[in-house]
Amino acid sequence: MTPSATTPRADQPAGNFAGTLTAKLKEQFEEGLLSGQELRSDFTIAQPVHRYTDTDHATWRKLYDRQAAMLEGRVCDEFLQGLATLGMARDRVPDFDQLNEMLMRATGWQVVAVPGLVPDEVFFEHLANRRFPASWWMRKPEQIDYLQEPDCFHDVFGHVPLLINPVFADYMEAYGKGGLKAARLGALDMLARLYWYTVEFGLIRTPQGLRIFGAGIVSSQGESIYSLDSASPNRIGFDLRRIMRTRYRIDTFQKTYFVIDSFEQLFDATRPDFTDLYPTLRALPTLGAGDIAEGDRVIHAGTREGWGDSDDI
Ligand SMILES: [Fe+2]
Repeated sequence: MTPSATTPRADQPAGNFAGTLTAKLKEQFEEGLLSGQELRSDFTIAQPVHRYTDTDHATWRKLYDRQAAMLEGRVCDEFLQGLATLGMARDRVPDFDQLNEMLMRATGWQVVAVPGLVPDEVFFEHLANRRFPASWWMRKPEQIDYLQEPDCFHDVFGHVPLLINPVFADYMEAYGKGGLKAARLGALDMLARLYWYTVEFGLIRTPQGLRIFGAGIVSSQGESIYSLDSASPNRIGFDLRRIMRTRYRIDTFQKTYFVIDSFEQLFDATRPDFTDLYPTLRALPTLGAGDIAEGDRVIHAGTREGWGDSDDI
């Protein structure tokens, strides 16, 4: 399946779609599993809260403060509401059990700790059961702006606040169920593109203008600015079939951002069974990450400035 994450993005890792886990990611997973710690059959571990150092807490605090200040007026209201409702700690790495008390009450979701990227089907199984697997460990201070693997800040700050939103929460569960089915149908590459362009790099239209909701943007200082302010990337109205054909970037900021009108639109689009859709889309050519296609609802046609020449995934 694609993509195989052999190349780091410039700024922030995004998802669990690592494809065949690379040696580096396997190594990181081993590192994330502390000696003597039990790895359960679902790849989760007990969050080792006692292992966080003062440096880990300081790194969390620095990232949290920087992003919280940056996101005001950039991120969708639902994200900010989620952050407030969860009462997510700003001064230290959150204790997942504490987060889960509020999250479970709100939407029945919970965060579970994992040592690193888990196999795709394990990941889908968790989502299908309203569990979000989050790396427990924090990036090192020298990785504050650059990191290959998703760490606790990306996974928790980036992904968890929207799980408070009932519609988005349902979308994520449906996505997990769809992932299990797509794996059986050999269509994970197409479904991965949907995750990438929505859960990780999605924008949403609001009366106040475009806002961010994707976790890969939310947890990245550079892309929080670029995705909304830069003239370089395309911004195109959400279209499920189109997205499922669109390759993407793992080594640079995105060339195209897709814009939803609402979380209801997203959930409704993914309600149908994709079993018959996959072969239809498979018969069509894929689209490049920066292409504009016939029928696109173009909100902004990118200037393409600074786009890399390397291949899209
Ligand atoms: Fe992610």
